[in-house]
Amino acid sequence: MRVAVVGQGYVGLTAALGLAEQGHRVTGVESDPARLAALEDRRIPFDEPGMDGLLDRLLAGGGLRFAATLATAGPGPDAVVVAVGSPPTPTGRPDLRHVHAALAQVAALDPAPSLVMVKSTVPPGTSATWLAGARGAPLRDRYVYSPEFLNQGAALEDWRHPARLVAGLSGPGPLPLVRELYRGVEAPWVVTDPTSAEVIKYAGNAFLATKVSFAADLVTLCEGTGADIDAVLTGTGLDPRIGPAFLRAEAGYAGSCLPKDTRALAHWARLTGHHLPVVDAVATSHQTQLLRPVRILTEHLGAARLLAGETTVAVLGLRYQTWTDDLRDAPCQTLLPELAASGARLRVWEPSLTPERITALFPVAEVAPGPDRALAGAAAALVLTDWPELLGADWSALARLMRPPRLLVDTKNCLPPAALTATGLVYRSMGPRRPAAGTGPG
Ligand SMILES: NC(=O)c1ccc[n+]([C@@H]2O[C@H](COP(=O)([O-])OP(=O)(O)OC[C@H]3O[C@@H](n4cnc5c(N)ncnc54)[C@H](O)[C@@H]3O)[C@@H](O)[C@H]2O)c1
Repeated sequence: MRVAVVGQGYVGLTAALGLAEQGHRVTGVESDPARLAALEDRRIPFDEPGMDGLLDRLLAGGGLRFAATLATAGPGPDAVVVAVGSPPTPTGRPDLRHVHAALAQVAALDPAPSLVMVKSTVPPGTSATWLAGARGAPLRDRYVYSPEFLNQGAALEDWRHPARLVAGLSGPGPLPLVRELYRGVEAPWVVTDPTSAEVIKYAGNAFLATKVSFAADLVTLCEGTGADIDAVLTGTGLDPRIGPAFLRAEAGYAGSCLPKDTRALAHWARLTGHHLPVVDAVATSHQTQLLRPVRILTEHLGAARLLAGETTVAVLGLRYQTWTDDLRDAPCQTLLPELAASGARLRVWEPSLTPERITALFPVAEVAPGPDRALAGAAAALVLTDWPELLGADWSALARLMRPPRLLVDTKNCLPPAALTATGLVYRSMGPRRPAAGTGPG
């Protein structure tokens, strides 16, 4: 099939590469000139393993090309995939301007494509409303809402081996074309209506956010009882009915999807007068968890000392996961402004970003070229990323560079508590941790 994929972000570029690899002739449409230029120059505009080589190969083979607009994407695509962003507004409502603009461009195509697939995450009822309108109605029998479930850092693998394929259709007409588009991808299918498909996408992310928030309750429970959070999470996650994924002690959930999609659901509930008490509680808990590291800092250092600007806090890492450079809704976006507002002087080390980029993101922070320079003279440090440089560091030497009380807040629970305490650091994690006792046969 000739396929145009509108939007070349994490989802759209993955789809373009995946579809071209499956043998379709694909045009990736991208309106951001810098992103388009990078792609045409065979550069992946973000960190995503495995994409570089595939992009080279597909461009060389002619199965993939890029264009700035759908109108210039080449003659009459058989299918158009919409994968533009649906970012949150301050109220939590997703901003659907890009989705509506892309759909208007699809509706203006002559001849009309045989299949229109929307992959952007949109609130329940968005597809049905558009299909009932003047622009959407003619495409009703060609439309499918097929949400994307990829994980950043494993995007291509998730495209090739998804846990399920969801097709939300107004009628059975386009199903053979949807199957043809996804040919070669083996997964269980869920064929349903567009609104149910939209809800499936939100349900998945809301559930994962709930697991992270529940783990945060376990952190509090362990703090209150003195139980070991590592043992509790391992012991709970080994139950196959629960599973270890997303059962982790961190400062809230992060990334471009979980915070945005839970806020969108909470907004939908407020708007429509429905009550989603679990989702509401998860969104509220998330805000509290995000600030747990700040509470630990003020508890140890005293709010007055922070406010007097006497305290330098070293921030070690900005990424929420080592494998993605996506900082949308990363904990650093909340924590650093909050600490700066408390009066702390911030010094940031982030090995994957240039000093200019760090300064553009956090103008109040000083940039350090290494963990040692970040920690020199700092009274406290926040570990936000489990970078190998930190896991393998000589913490005895680093601790000596710091000023009392030498507080280290490990928001990833990634450093060995006993070894760090032995260096003279005051080690605090997300819940009490003890040296690992192991999970082998009893
Ligand atoms: N990132 C993820 O892990 C993920 C996973 C599942 C679902 N989603 C959903 O998929 C959608 C896309 O997410 P993303 O992270 O890839 O977004 P993104 O913001 O990284 O990329 C969107 C791209 O679309 C481009 N664009 C916008 N309007 C355009 C137009 N009319 N023509 C051409 N290009 C246009 C933008 O310039 C941008 O490069 C969102 O709705 C998101 O919620 C994202």
